Amino acid sequence: MNKEPKILVVDDEQQNLELLSAYLEKAGYNNIVTASNGIEALKHFDGTPPDLILLDVMMPKMNGFEVCKKLKDDSRTRLIPIVIITALRDVEDKIRALDLGADEFLSKPFNRAELMARVRALLKMKLLNDNLEAAEDVIFTLARTIEARDRYTEGHCERVSDFAIGLAKEIGLSENDQKALKNGGILHDIGKIAIDEAILNKPGKLTPEEFEKMKLHPVKGAEICKNLKTLTDALPIIRSHHERCDGSGYPDGLKKDEIPVIARIMAIVDVYDAIITDRPYRKGLPFDTAANILKTESQKGWWDPELVDAFFKMLKK
Ligand SMILES: [Fe+2]
Repeated sequence: MNKEPKILVVDDEQQNLELLSAYLEKAGYNNIVTASNGIEALKHFDGTPPDLILLDVMMPKMNGFEVCKKLKDDSRTRLIPIVIITALRDVEDKIRALDLGADEFLSKPFNRAELMARVRALLKMKLLNDNLEAAEDVIFTLARTIEARDRYTEGHCERVSDFAIGLAKEIGLSENDQKALKNGGILHDIGKIAIDEAILNKPGKLTPEEFEKMKLHPVKGAEICKNLKTLTDALPIIRSHHERCDGSGYPDGLKKDEIPVIARIMAIVDVYDAIITDRPYRKGLPFDTAANILKTESQKGWWDPELVDAFFKMLKK
């Protein structure tokens, strides 16, 4: 992970490009690329993207604000630190830059030592983010590997993610909740990695002892993901997707409002997907049967009836 950081310097004045590049080289950074306007700058994202951008504002074709907005709006480039360096001195310009997601704002003429301190700090942050992303990749790959071991659950994670996001949109949950459901859909059963394969793949009904072991998977899953800060929002889904509104679920026996709404959603879409897809012991059941089962179970007190209604309303659309 100790690769040479790649730094992109963008300025329409050749003299500034040379000055900044010289400062960076002197500070030991040798992988520097330059661009003299916004359009040219964006071309550097086709291959290996830079780890940091020093960005001028007033440039022909596409200015620095537009470049900043474009990069910060895109999830693939959002975490690349941007330092805006500009002759603009107004507080409004600074606020605008920071609102667009710029990580630093320095006015020309800048102090060289200060600039280099910012560069060091931001590159350190970028490296930490890269490492975190790599750890996240491992966890998601693990979740998909677990799913792939079981031919009956193939595609289940993606489907429940999609259903859950659809339901969240239907009832107007925030983008944060939608993101949590996207991740939670993929990761909700990751704790099954800790469960004996003979139990997981048993075609018939589990014995009470086996079921007790199976019931550990939400807690194990939450343990696996708890140290990754980016997955914090998905933890309630992983831990509580087998809770029921009447308190008869597991692992905590939570009741309706004690169960986070995103976990109540995951419970419904998880069961729905299990009903409509083939199982070792039966074929997948049709939509109407699934609707009846979920409605009966919500009358029994298992699922949140309002969410069940909203879910089928969404599916009918
Ligand atoms: Fe589960």
